[in-house]
Amino acid sequence: MKEPRPKVLATVKLPEAVESRLSSTYDVTLNTDNKFLSKDELSRAMTQYNALVSTISDRLDKDILCTTGRKVHMIANVGVGYSNIDTNTARSESITVSNTPDVLTDATADIALLLILAATRGAYAAEKKLRENQWNEFSLVQGLGSSVQGKVLGIIGMGRIGQATAKRAIFGLGMKVIFFNRSVITNLDFEATQMDTIDEVMASADVVSIHVPGGGSSHLINASHIAKLKPTAYLINTARGDCVDQTALIKALTENQIAGAGLDVYTQEPNVPDELRKLDNVTLLPHIGSATVEVRTAMGMLAVDNLDAFFAGVTLPSKVV
Ligand code: DGY
Repeated sequence: MKEPRPKVLATVKLPEAVESRLSSTYDVTLNTDNKFLSKDELSRAMTQYNALVSTISDRLDKDILCTTGRKVHMIANVGVGYSNIDTNTARSESITVSNTPDVLTDATADIALLLILAATRGAYAAEKKLRENQWNEFSLVQGLGSSVQGKVLGIIGMGRIGQATAKRAIFGLGMKVIFFNRSVITNLDFEATQMDTIDEVMASADVVSIHVPGGGSSHLINASHIAKLKPTAYLINTARGDCVDQTALIKALTENQIAGAGLDVYTQEPNVPDELRKLDNVTLLPHIGSATVEVRTAMGMLAVDNLDAFFAGVTLPSKVV
């Protein structure tokens, strides 16, 4: 008799090609309506499936991972980040977790670049003026942004995405790069100066871009770091909302303590506070760092590669736990 196929739940809608690959190998339940699963539904799923294909909007905390009668032994998270999963509990419960690194590095660095330019050139305020029919004449002196050429980009977290962003800024925009990274980095193939503290980067950079994983219990960039930024500086975040004290950032933007910001991620997605939405000196994107057809498909395929490896009992391409 043939072995039954592993039961897999896709917690969210996936690109078509990924869904059909899953369907051809697994007894899969797809989320064709892309309906967000409640905590109860996730708990129930833990007892009904052998594996989940999840993403960053699924909060897989201790309660869920420790559901009585759990059958799930593998979580293939679609995302390089996995701060939505309590990995310590996953480890102690012997649940394998994988992520999808590399395939989204360029796309995310592109969005960081887009936000660097949007913030420094005041793209949101300019477009708003045009759309609201307030653009009455060409002006040599109004609506001026700041040039980035020769300015200093401070990178917080010089991993894959930090490096891809730094290269774009150096070779594409003519910026100089300084950075903070917890460990010493010596093998960069471009010129950049490592600083000892986040404060030094905040105080010296004209634009600061964050590229750390997120998921910590306290903000990596807190109010005191934000206070170190120059009044002419811009803060860019394409990493995770919880990396930055959002309340302190809103205060700094509202009181013009800094020049502006470009954000793709927020503390409680998809909720973006009204105080932030109404500011003209910030460009806001709805977490689209990896949102291209090619990249989302590659992320889904990598998640399935991880599932396949897990069920074949071989080394996973990108295992986290
Ligand atoms: C990731 O991969 O972590 C992104 O933030 C989700 O697209």
